[in-house]
Amino acid sequence: MSTLKINNLSKKFRANDFYSLEDVNLEINAGDIVGLVGRNGAGKSTLLKLIAKSYIPTSGTVEYNGKNIFNNDYILKNVGIMIEPVFYPYMTVKENLEFYLDVHGKKGFKKNIDNILELVDLVKKKNNKPENFSFGMKQRLSLAIVLVDEPDFLILDEPFVGLDPYGVQELLEILQGWVKERNISMIISSHQLSELESICNRFVMLEHGKMKNIQVEDEQNLGQYFTERKEKK
Ligand SMILES: Nc1ncnc2c1ncn2[C@@H]1O[C@H](COP(=O)(O)OP(=O)(O)O)[C@@H](O)[C@H]1O
Ligand SMILES: [Mg+2]
Repeated sequence: MSTLKINNLSKKFRANDFYSLEDVNLEINAGDIVGLVGRNGAGKSTLLKLIAKSYIPTSGTVEYNGKNIFNNDYILKNVGIMIEPVFYPYMTVKENLEFYLDVHGKKGFKKNIDNILELVDLVKKKNNKPENFSFGMKQRLSLAIVLVDEPDFLILDEPFVGLDPYGVQELLEILQGWVKERNISMIISSHQLSELESICNRFVMLEHGKMKNIQVEDEQNLGQYFTERKEKK
């Protein structure tokens, strides 16, 4: 059984006369690390917000471990979601992590805090407030909050946006280390395929709200994305 099953999922916002997401089907199995690529406006955030239950679909369903997420409360309790900033700027790093665990009734995971801060290289900043952090530090704090309760499934929306190449590499290494030690699943979006190549075992592409399946070996189908990468080298 797949961990996440998306069936004929569509979303049209009231304000628009077009579908932001149209008839999307996707299965994600345990251990799958799926890269979701597509240009700005392709529908990546809409899809991830639907999976995260932030939006109600116009039609279609999303099943997590065999259950419709829209009919079941607390079904995403073991899912780590990084779509919008997940920390409070006026609390220290440590307080943010503790607060997150308190609010979600997961005090038992407080033992993870020191290890997670080590992982994201924020140990020295644990008593600082993130309001003046660099963008990279803020992303690493968001990731720490998402990982601290050891989720089975991760939803990450463009976590590399705004990071310099060093920041991208840092975040990638954190994620790679995390994935290697655990049999988790993940869907991670980017408008640049090159950022996802080293971590994903599968890729899917959205174009104007529609899903296109692509194979990582199939460079020709990836067209512009691989062209961009080759030109950069
Ligand atoms: N809350 C919303 N209300 C109206 N239109 C939206 C909303 N969110 C996204 N859209 C539209 O849906 C399309 C897909 O957007 P989005 O999912 O944010 O794309 P991506 O994340 O791939 O850049 C865009 O045309 C965008 O303007
Ligand atoms: Mg987006």
